[in-house]
Amino acid sequence: MSDTMLRIERSGALTGSVEVAGAKNAVLVIIASLLLPRGKSVLTNVPCSDDVGQMMQLLTALGAEVSFDKETHTLTADTSMVCRSAVSAELMKKMRASVLVMGPLLALMRKAEIALPGGCVIGSRPIDLHLKNFKKMGAVITMDGESLTASAENLHATTLVLDYPSVGATENILMAAVLTPGTTRLVNAALEPEVMDLVCILKKMGASITIEAPATIRVEGVTELQAVHHEIMPDRLEAGSLLLAAAITGGDVHVVNAHAYDMDVFLLKLEEMGHTIIVGEGGRGIRLLATQNPKAVSFKTSPYPGFPTDLQAPTMAALCLAEGVSVVEELVFENRLVHVRELQKMGAQISVDGNKATITGVDALFGANVIASDIRASCALVIAGMVAKGVTHMSGIHHWKRGYDALEVKLRALGGHVEYVEPSCVLPQDLTTIQPVK
Ligand code: EPZ
Repeated sequence: MSDTMLRIERSGALTGSVEVAGAKNAVLVIIASLLLPRGKSVLTNVPCSDDVGQMMQLLTALGAEVSFDKETHTLTADTSMVCRSAVSAELMKKMRASVLVMGPLLALMRKAEIALPGGCVIGSRPIDLHLKNFKKMGAVITMDGESLTASAENLHATTLVLDYPSVGATENILMAAVLTPGTTRLVNAALEPEVMDLVCILKKMGASITIEAPATIRVEGVTELQAVHHEIMPDRLEAGSLLLAAAITGGDVHVVNAHAYDMDVFLLKLEEMGHTIIVGEGGRGIRLLATQNPKAVSFKTSPYPGFPTDLQAPTMAALCLAEGVSVVEELVFENRLVHVRELQKMGAQISVDGNKATITGVDALFGANVIASDIRASCALVIAGMVAKGVTHMSGIHHWKRGYDALEVKLRALGGHVEYVEPSCVLPQDLTTIQPVK
């Protein structure tokens, strides 16, 4: 299956209603948080993606009993028997989010043994902010090559200030603090909706957490937490991708369970492009009626509530056909413009200067053989392929399968032509529409 590709053909206007799955960037950290209580917790609305499978493996390796019902999207984890504090290097390398067990293991076992999570194509992805603040809480960190051991006789509560509102560092420190006696204040914390979903389940477990201005999370440590039931929030990043697929194909799509209030800046940019956005009662449900003449817009990515870095690539795909010149600045990760090269293969007119991409709208994109470099780049290329003249074949689909729960099925239901194919099925005529790379 490793050589399997996605075959994307020019699709008509996408139309219809669709539901998004549970949020990948909420469920991974929430699965890690299930280590904090001793007992059987149940998560619903869990996406069936490869990353969820990896996180389940990780919890099992630590001694938990974990099961997942793919039909009902329900994950059950009994952490009564968790007895280990070491995560294998193999598991750490497979998925960076594994680092999120450090906080719970330090809080519970007073020890966490992990391998440094690898970087990836979008950046070196260091964890210095996690480690620096665990040390301030009293942890002793020792390194032996790629192996890292954090141990703490007793973590102590204190005021911590993040140099940068790192999502992972906020989540890791928060999960250590909830079982640390005293008051921990985390200043300049990340407050992404996915972080708030973690706060929600931790409070259900019995944690004492308040959010204070400016961007401060205050925790009163408790002695133990209870196993709970929790429904994972809908995935705003999948929702944004589906709205962009409607926008680029000139369609009319209603994402029935999306939370518009998690996506204000992104929706503002869609409206500035000329698309009509209709939000449902209480901010739930988002319908996009596409304009036939989208206009160029510019944006810079930044921590929430700014423009989400995870929607930068898919939005850039939609800007390739917008009238005028758009400027996109990626300010969260140091190398998250790798998808530009692939969009250029499809005829996009984009120039890059450091972290800034300038996109000049063109009349058409053309099918090509493209390579997905990360989860969100894979989404950008599928979106572009649905409007390109001819056929696009995308390899590197493990990224697509890591980040989404059968998004190709949802796109097909809306009229998109996206399917898995084996390389032997790539017919010669499929390659005739490839444009010379500028
Ligand atoms: C989370 O990654 C998400 N992943 C990312 O989604 C998302 O892009 C990112 O937050 C920003 O919103 C998950 O939740 C599993 P960060 P995380 O720590 O926690 C630097 C996707 O496609 N930094 O906020 O790793 C870091 O290098 C993925 O779904 C340090 O320098 O993001 C980056 O430049 C991609 N030192 C910036 O901060 C640290 O100790 C933001 O990273 C930690 C981070």
